[in-house]
Amino acid sequence: MADLTPGSPRGRAGHAAGRNGREESASEEKRRVQLEPNTEIEQRLAFPPCTPQHKRFSASPVTMETQRYRKLWDDNMGFHQEGVASLFCYIMAAVDSFYLLYREIAHSCHSYVETLALVGAWYIAKKGFRLICDSYGLLRVYFIPRLVSRIDLVKHYGEWAVVTGATSGIGKAYAEELARRGVNLILISRNKEKLENVSDSIAERYKVQTAFIVVDFSKGREIYPLIQKALNDVEIGILVNNVGVAYDYPQYFGLVPEEKLWDIVNINMAAATMMVNIVLPRMIDRQKGAIVNISSASCYRPVPQMAGYSASKAYLDHFSRALHHEYASKGIFVQSLTPMYVATNMVEYSGILSSLPWLAPSASVYARHAVSTLGISTRTTGYWSHSIQLLLLRSVPEWLFVYGANIWNNILRKEALSRMAS
Ligand SMILES: NC(=O)c1ccc[n+]([C@@H]2O[C@H](COP(=O)([O-])OP(=O)(O)OC[C@H]3O[C@@H](n4cnc5c(N)ncnc54)[C@H](OP(=O)(O)O)[C@@H]3O)[C@@H](O)[C@H]2O)c1
Repeated sequence: MADLTPGSPRGRAGHAAGRNGREESASEEKRRVQLEPNTEIEQRLAFPPCTPQHKRFSASPVTMETQRYRKLWDDNMGFHQEGVASLFCYIMAAVDSFYLLYREIAHSCHSYVETLALVGAWYIAKKGFRLICDSYGLLRVYFIPRLVSRIDLVKHYGEWAVVTGATSGIGKAYAEELARRGVNLILISRNKEKLENVSDSIAERYKVQTAFIVVDFSKGREIYPLIQKALNDVEIGILVNNVGVAYDYPQYFGLVPEEKLWDIVNINMAAATMMVNIVLPRMIDRQKGAIVNISSASCYRPVPQMAGYSASKAYLDHFSRALHHEYASKGIFVQSLTPMYVATNMVEYSGILSSLPWLAPSASVYARHAVSTLGISTRTTGYWSHSIQLLLLRSVPEWLFVYGANIWNNILRKEALSRMAS
């Protein structure tokens, strides 16, 4: 019997022979693994039977890595202990497979990362460009006109202006600013006494001609023939559609009285539409004129608890911009004026708004700035601080704006209700 113990010469030779044999069979198996990577090795590692999915998995670098460790074990340990060998293979493969997997994912994601980087760069460039345009817009509308000579409104548009809702707030202040620039005025409002007072005081103070028409715009269709008749003999150069009503305080639509909803339709939308209908044909004939529709910053996005009001202002804004496209070539300038809060009777329900002049300027400060944008911008808040506020508000996503507006209007409503109760 041959001595095959490791210490004996034959044993050593036998062992060497055995080792050579194992090395041969190892290199033989290595070749086989390279040729048939998915068959025998998989069976030895007790992989589940090959399904089409499994085939795909087997071909992956992770499985190949397991096989590589199996070879490493066989070559170096020189014997098969299936349980330990498999465990070793799995542990080593698991360690390496993380890295391999990461490399694979990183490799396949490389193009996605580049695409995302491009999208990010495009977004930043777009925002940057917008910021530059907005800053230039602020300079162009509010600051440059102060440096150069002002537009001569009489020469540009005509001698007479009509202002609706001219007995208080923005309308009255706008009328005064026009008079300060030498424009004669026809004031339209519902209260004769107030109209007389405002009309006389403007005529006296600014040495311009004034007249007034007493109508209630909430009456609807019946009033317009009267206005048309009264304006028949006058060349209207500027029409300021200022008259407007809002809810008494922010409120859910279902709780707003029906009468108020009709007022919003008749006063905010119908009045401006019909006034344009009356003055536009003569402006077209003369190939000059300006129409200012006082909308609101609430036209830009839906405002909860101001649904009817903000929608009526969106109507005015769209109406103005479309009109400008239609008649700019005929020498008619149409402006959509979209103020934020202005301290007038309309926001009297809130002490917060009246106490923050940077948020809500007085009507006269507002009107001075707004008139200086006439002929320069077709759509503006009319006041630089309002434009900055709007810029910030419009930079947030709409859902966030609406959420914030709802909270803000809740605060204002509660304040108004507690003021009414006390
Ligand atoms: N104040 C703001 O924070 C703000 C913000 C954005 C937009 N706006 C818009 O700016 C415009 C002017 O607002 P305001 O704050 O100056 O309002 P206001 O102070 O309440 O003045 C409204 C003017 O319209 C007249 N008026 C109201 N209802 C009338 C009717 N049925 N018929 C005839 N005249 C009527 C009023 O006459 P009486 O004097 O007889 O009441 C008053 O002269 C509105 O279109 C409003 O939507 C205001």
